[in-house]
Amino acid sequence: MNRKYRKTVIAANWKMNKTPTETKAFMTEFKGLMPKGRWCDVAICVPAVCIPAAVRAMRETRVGIGGENCSAHASGAFTGEIAANMLVDAGCKYVIIGHSERRAMGETDAEVNAKVKAALLNELIPIMCVGESLAQREAGITEEWITMQVKAGLAGIPEEKIRKIVIAYEPIWAIGTGKVATPEQAEEVCEHIRTVIRKMFGAKIARATSILYGGSMNEKNAYELLAQPDIDGGLIGGASLVPEKFVQIIEAANQPTN
Ligand code: 13P
Repeated sequence: MNRKYRKTVIAANWKMNKTPTETKAFMTEFKGLMPKGRWCDVAICVPAVCIPAAVRAMRETRVGIGGENCSAHASGAFTGEIAANMLVDAGCKYVIIGHSERRAMGETDAEVNAKVKAALLNELIPIMCVGESLAQREAGITEEWITMQVKAGLAGIPEEKIRKIVIAYEPIWAIGTGKVATPEQAEEVCEHIRTVIRKMFGAKIARATSILYGGSMNEKNAYELLAQPDIDGGLIGGASLVPEKFVQIIEAANQPTN
């Protein structure tokens, strides 16, 4: 983390877990456990049908609610899709874009780019995900792959908008596997992502961009991961479903840094 230059963001990705009723119960418990005083930015990204319950529960707090995907289109004949302005109107502040689980369903880099643009157009903060597979890591092409994903995802976005984007590095082999990247492995790629942004948009914007790590991050390993200079927060799946665990990760992000 480097709080002097950029925000620390702890984001939950609930994926396809919890009903609206369970959302309400989680939020009640979570609110009772939330650390007092100043803390990092917190986002909770939930299934679309849980957004109203989450927004209602968090209304008086600084916690931002997010969607897990949005359409690249503004409106029209796209059955089952949700437009960025619908998320905003429902009370969302964030949206996850290009998660590897969606890319595995066929989402392309061009679609990710179009969705990031749709989110920005509607003043939603996109949390754009990138990450390599185990095969790519073992083949030694992690950096090339990440470079390509970042460049494609951010193509054609004006400089002043880049500041609004959060990037999440999620190695696919670490997601839901319990096999967390070492702090060194995670730092190496997050630092590389910052270098790619620097080359595209300059040092000032690169320094101000929040880059998160995701992949089996939990209340036990968060402290060490967040102590890395280029890891500005986390995108948390499994551990974000349990209020005590998620709160402990937020507390790890509130640790003093030098
Ligand atoms: P886990 O924390 O369950 O590994 O999931 C990570 C993730 O995919 C967050 O987007």
